Amino acid sequence: MQLQIGSLKVKRKPAEALILPYWEDKKKPVPAFSGEDMDKPLLSLLEEDFKGEVAEVNYSYSTAGIEKKVILLGLGQKSGVTLASFRKAFAALVDFCRKKKITTVNIYMPKSVETKEVEAIVDALLMANYSFDESKRQTAKEKPVCLLKKALLIGLDKKHEKIIERCSLLVDSVNLARVLVNRNADDAKAQDLADAAWQIAKKYSSVQCKVLGKKELEKEKMGLILAVNRGSDQDPALIVLTYMGDPKNGDKTAVVGKGVTFDTGGLNLKPTGSMEDMRIDMAGAAAVLGIMQAAAALKIKKNIIGVIPSVENAIDAKSYKPGDVYISHSGKSVEITNTDAEGRLILADAVSYVQKHHAPNRIVDLATLTGGVVVAIGEEASGLFCNELKMTEKLKKAAEETGERVWQLPLYPEYAALMKSKIADLKNASGGRKASPCTGAAFIQQFIAKDLPWAHLDIAGTAYLSDFNPYYPSAATGVGVKLLISFIENL
Ligand code: BES
Ligand code: ZN
Ligand code: ZN
Repeated sequence: MQLQIGSLKVKRKPAEALILPYWEDKKKPVPAFSGEDMDKPLLSLLEEDFKGEVAEVNYSYSTAGIEKKVILLGLGQKSGVTLASFRKAFAALVDFCRKKKITTVNIYMPKSVETKEVEAIVDALLMANYSFDESKRQTAKEKPVCLLKKALLIGLDKKHEKIIERCSLLVDSVNLARVLVNRNADDAKAQDLADAAWQIAKKYSSVQCKVLGKKELEKEKMGLILAVNRGSDQDPALIVLTYMGDPKNGDKTAVVGKGVTFDTGGLNLKPTGSMEDMRIDMAGAAAVLGIMQAAAALKIKKNIIGVIPSVENAIDAKSYKPGDVYISHSGKSVEITNTDAEGRLILADAVSYVQKHHAPNRIVDLATLTGGVVVAIGEEASGLFCNELKMTEKLKKAAEETGERVWQLPLYPEYAALMKSKIADLKNASGGRKASPCTGAAFIQQFIAKDLPWAHLDIAGTAYLSDFNPYYPSAATGVGVKLLISFIENL
């Protein structure tokens, strides 16, 4: 979508629809815009059966204006406005335009909006204006999807142009993640993720890419990544992207994303009903690709190492077996008590690798790790585990800024105790139904150096949605990209 800025003083070019924001008030909705050249009689009619509630829309044809349609958009009560309510309203607008097949709009911005609010509005327009249109997975009902092509934002000035550019680059990177997650599992294999990584490195000279294939993984003794991938006819990969936005500074953040391209559960096979969505089990990896692309596109002045362990947890005579013991990259032995707890295994090797070869100052991992986190907090927030207070606060702040909510869950030592094995250093699943997101996090923690700040984001509920909404019009959300870019920028 082409986003342009217009002044209140200059005569605007025609578009299909004129968008007018309103505050909700006791008696009557109150215009949130300033502007004179409106079809006033029409507006007073439209205001009659319209309250101005958040995301409420009312519209009509007009013969008086330069736009053929006039759309009133509710922003809710002015006193209760938040970044989230702005996002909700403007996403609803895009949804409405999509349904009415409107592709060009002139939008009056709410009077005296703050920078953060403009950012939320632009973000919502772009986030909502996405459709997954790779013909294979699209139903007849969904196509053709009508997207906005042009939006003129009236009432902003030059200084807002930077915001538009920033949001566009960010949402492009979110959409890179969304596409990879939405795609068929067979079209987003380890090699495809590696290709996507190479493309980022090709486009941005600030990004270096390195991919370890099966042979290199054997040489590196990445025993857990190799174990999980044994049942697959695809080769595993460890993808490493390096972005040095501040080469003089030694500070580095590692972001590690779970890249299970399909999770059958392995020999502890998932039942029907639990396997159908498992192509999305690489959403952490997709987010890491999005983060690396966004960092380079935005030229952020920080150093980031992106690491993606990628495998397919398939079922085959060669599949890794429950009860067997494997040696991890770190040297710790792991008893496999459940082949469906594969994410923590590949992450363990990946965090151990990045600590050995890149010595990061902190690690954040993103993983669709447990169904338990979805049971606990649903699709409304990612589970956050963190071993350091400052880092926790910074991640919470980034969540507030971006709307990618996190909810902290505990890392009590008792959870680690549940992961003790009688025959190995650790087992990969506790065996019970207790606190699976916490025991999963506690497992990964065993592979993090004692004093190294580390956070684990369980995105099993937030990476893709069972019910779409206007802000997230397709299953994949690309969650993690905006959150961690904001977190890293504010370090
Ligand atoms: N990929 C799944 C977790 C998942 C569930 C992601 C639902 C997205 C939606 C993960 O590998 C898994 O199967 N976890 C097990 C762990 C258990 C065996 C300890 C789970 O949550 O049941
Ligand atoms: Zn699994
Ligand atoms: Zn999994």
